Amino acid sequence: MSGGVYGGDEVGALVFDIGSFSTRAGYAGEDCPKADFPTTIGVHTEEEGQADMGAEQEINSGRSYYIDTTALHVPRAGVELISPLKNGMIEDWNAFQAIIDHIYSKHIKSEPSLHPVLMSEAPWNSRAKREKLTELIFEHYNIPAFFLCKTAVLTAFANGRATGLVLDSGATHTTAIPVHDGYVLQQGIVKSPLAGDFITMQCRELFQEMNIDTVPPYMIASKEPVREGAPPLWTKKDKLPPVTKSWHTYMCNEVIQDFQASVLQVSDSPYDEQVAAQMPTLHYEMPSGYSTDYGAERLRIPEGLFDPSNVKGLSGNTMLGVGHVVTTSIGMCDIDIRPGLYGSVIVTGGNTLLQGFTERLNRELSQKAPPSMRLKLMACNSSIERRFSSWIGGSILASLGTFQQMWISKQEYDEGGKQSVERKCP
Ligand SMILES: Nc1ncnc2c1ncn2[C@@H]1O[C@H](COP(=O)(O)OP(=O)(O)OP(=O)(O)O)[C@@H](O)[C@H]1O
Ligand SMILES: [Mg+2]
Repeated sequence: MSGGVYGGDEVGALVFDIGSFSTRAGYAGEDCPKADFPTTIGVHTEEEGQADMGAEQEINSGRSYYIDTTALHVPRAGVELISPLKNGMIEDWNAFQAIIDHIYSKHIKSEPSLHPVLMSEAPWNSRAKREKLTELIFEHYNIPAFFLCKTAVLTAFANGRATGLVLDSGATHTTAIPVHDGYVLQQGIVKSPLAGDFITMQCRELFQEMNIDTVPPYMIASKEPVREGAPPLWTKKDKLPPVTKSWHTYMCNEVIQDFQASVLQVSDSPYDEQVAAQMPTLHYEMPSGYSTDYGAERLRIPEGLFDPSNVKGLSGNTMLGVGHVVTTSIGMCDIDIRPGLYGSVIVTGGNTLLQGFTERLNRELSQKAPPSMRLKLMACNSSIERRFSSWIGGSILASLGTFQQMWISKQEYDEGGKQSVERKCP
């Protein structure tokens, strides 16, 4: 690790990428994050003097936190699930700090004061939140050097590009973000709420219509094999604590998310009922033991991402399908740089792992892009790279020798205050 201008005795820089769905954290220079766990955390507010000894984290407020995959999945009375983020930005600072504390104590197992930190942020993050974060990093964690970088810029770097149109479809939103020479062009950001959570909701409605109960594994003591389509035969665990609705819903959503990833497929051309009816069916078994074959719905559900006009409950909607999100974004950028954006459309985010997603996007863009434009989609084949692209970009950036002068050093912060982030991290 190079010394850097901040002159600390650092062991190695850390990279934190906190998304609405999952949190990725690890050492710069490594191929993938050391930690990847849900950003959703359990919180329990104790009555006075009733601290829960099982809690991983505790702060003065009497709130205990249950963080990370294992702790989150234990059914407990009264534990509500919350997310520190809203619209991709930090909203609940105590919960956010609980996650950071957890990363240091359980994954990095080292002192915050020993490592520079590069953190990702939503491209639309507000000035007040950036400054508040900078203050927290230096004042509370005593971090020797800090850098804040927009997720889309990091994703472009991970793909070896400083210019490109980043199409990111995660849990809460799908966005097109134009990046030019390593900077986000703010005026060209286009956002749509149609992403992974939307697909989860559509699947939940499908199961309700089909009268299928998405029983989460935590409830199941045992199950017996049944024939296809027959009601499942499972017995409920006894002595389950009275869990909250938010916790139970999250566990049901996990069942649905597995279905989403295993069964759904984006149609390669606009949805056609006749074509969908010919779709080969796929057998899928729920944790409860219920199993059946899925056909047309495999294509019908994800179609809303590309063509929102027919989605139930979105009637009269003005939402943009994924193809339009991209072309609208590029259309808002200067005409001179459009070829550079069409020439590197970088596809990232967990929701783009839906089978057929990039093929359909490619097809739509070929039809919508101006005919003279050379179009190139870049999408990593491995699901790890697609889900971790901004973390990977951060890992590359923070370990470059030429980057070391970019950090906000502790000394610069002490002299320039929290506004240093505006100057050093555009
Ligand atoms: N293999 C897969 N197939 C389909 N969907 C998937 C797959 N893997 C993950 N997802 C979905 O991707 C979403 C999570 O994506 P990602 O990890 O990019 O989100 P995030 O960056 O944490 O959140 P956001 O970008 O919304 O702030 C979830 O909705 C999840 O269900
Ligand atoms: Mg994301």
